[in-house]
Amino acid sequence: MSAPLPVVRGVAELRAQVSAWRKEGLTVALVPTMGALHAGHLSLVKRGLELVDRVVASVFVNPTQFGPNEDFARYPRQEEQDAAALTGAGCHLLFAPTVDEMYPQGFATAVSVGGVSEGLCGAVRPGHFAGVATVVTKLLLQCLPDVALFGEKDYQQLAVIRRFARDLDIPVRIEGVATMREEDGLAMSSRNAYMTPEQRAIAPWLVRGLSGIADGLRAGAKAADLCPMAASGLLKAGFDSVDYIEVRDAASLAPAETLDRPLRILAAARLGKTRLIDNIGVEP
Ligand code: PAF
Repeated sequence: MSAPLPVVRGVAELRAQVSAWRKEGLTVALVPTMGALHAGHLSLVKRGLELVDRVVASVFVNPTQFGPNEDFARYPRQEEQDAAALTGAGCHLLFAPTVDEMYPQGFATAVSVGGVSEGLCGAVRPGHFAGVATVVTKLLLQCLPDVALFGEKDYQQLAVIRRFARDLDIPVRIEGVATMREEDGLAMSSRNAYMTPEQRAIAPWLVRGLSGIADGLRAGAKAADLCPMAASGLLKAGFDSVDYIEVRDAASLAPAETLDRPLRILAAARLGKTRLIDNIGVEP
């Protein structure tokens, strides 16, 4: 049996451990998460272990990235299970700060990212990306890893993080890792646990809709024709509403019509109270 994973809750302890590793000449990766870990998160830890000597995972359900009517209160919290999963994946340290440690009395700063934050999830979840950018900036500065890893499942989030890390000269390499999927194609997500069996059976139609658009683009069709058809397909399959289904440039996230460069097809749709997001790439 492997030893239990060391857990630190304060920034000072985190920094002490990272600087001890640095004195030994070791390199460090950070995997920021909100917990409720699944195989997708563990694949970030595994990729981190390929790149560096020591991997730190953070678990913090960040209140500032949830809107007032979103699922902050019911977001799953299961630190013991998460720590066991991280130990099994070979993680070296868990940073699990309290809300007061991250947002002390009087906290008054936000990182606001233009451009890539606008549209898609940014249009439907006002303030969400400022919350993400603020907490990830803090986590990067608290840990100062060589590499930080994020899933491509949150593709717009990854673009936002790449943008502010570059704009603010944060000296950390941002590494995106491919989405892990269930056998029927559903992207792994901590929010999948919210679904009833009936909703879970409908959920894989989201990635099927994205694949249908990819096929259409490859056959020469335009996004403006394909996306509305895919949205009505999702409603017919049983989704309650579609927040967006769009084709964007894979790098800039600018709107795109035809397959003349690498593109990303992104969607968000709701099944009851559960909001699912997914995206896939398509190359000319
Ligand atoms: O993707 C997530 O789980 C969160 O948005 C992140 C990056 C950990 C910031 O809270």
